[in-house]
Amino acid sequence: MSTGDLCGLRIVVSAGTTYEDMVPVHFLGNRSSGHMGFAMATAAAARGAEVMLIAGPVQLATPEGVMRTDVRSAAQMHAAVFAALPCDIYIGAAAVADYTPAQVSASKSKKSDGPLTLTFVRTRDILAELAVDPRRPRLVVGFAAETDDVEAYARDKLVRKKLDLIAANRVGVPGSGFESEDNALLLIDATGTRALGPAPKTQLAHSLLDEVAAGLKRKFLDADRHG
Ligand code: PMT
Repeated sequence: MSTGDLCGLRIVVSAGTTYEDMVPVHFLGNRSSGHMGFAMATAAAARGAEVMLIAGPVQLATPEGVMRTDVRSAAQMHAAVFAALPCDIYIGAAAVADYTPAQVSASKSKKSDGPLTLTFVRTRDILAELAVDPRRPRLVVGFAAETDDVEAYARDKLVRKKLDLIAANRVGVPGSGFESEDNALLLIDATGTRALGPAPKTQLAHSLLDEVAAGLKRKFLDADRHG
């Protein structure tokens, strides 16, 4: 039987990049390696949670005791996350594409000397939809990848997407964000802002779960107080 402070909780974690196919040979992806999300899944399972990991195309082994669904595109990740409901906590660590090509060509396009113009359309926002779904997890936790004004942009995402907690990290600098083994997080919720790290992602995952567990406890207390 599982033991640990997250025992009895079902947690869904998304991790890694998504690939948006344009033609059979080209796709739109990003630099997410999956390390942050896999570290979250590993830490949650080690603390007794039942963990479902929804992974984009990454080169990482499945953590011990974790269930995994592999997806390729933002649309597939959206479908896999909603198929994994109900859960108590959703942690969106994946770098999901915000845009996908309006049309996918069935054949490889021929080069010409002129510029190439492609039209992209918005993908569905998994986090924002989950936060207002009737099956909303008790805690919806997002990440924010920002190059500047990290706190302000992350706070805007917390409010706009109706999240309980957001973990913001700076990208585009060495030692944090994409691909790096280490990261530094700014945690923002209704109670304020805390800085975590810099530290290895494996360690930060546990610190972030401490905050998640505390957030869940606060929600239970609030729910009790308000009947
Ligand atoms: O994978 P690594 O190499 O270890 O890098 C870790 C990381 C930098 C990818 C990770 O720490 C991180 O910041 N993940 C979120 C990246 C991101 O896409 O951030 P965003 O600010 O664009 O999106 C905000 C939130 O909305 C994220 O929780 C994202 O999962 C979610 N989102 C975005 C678009 C979309 N269509 N659906 C979503 O749910």
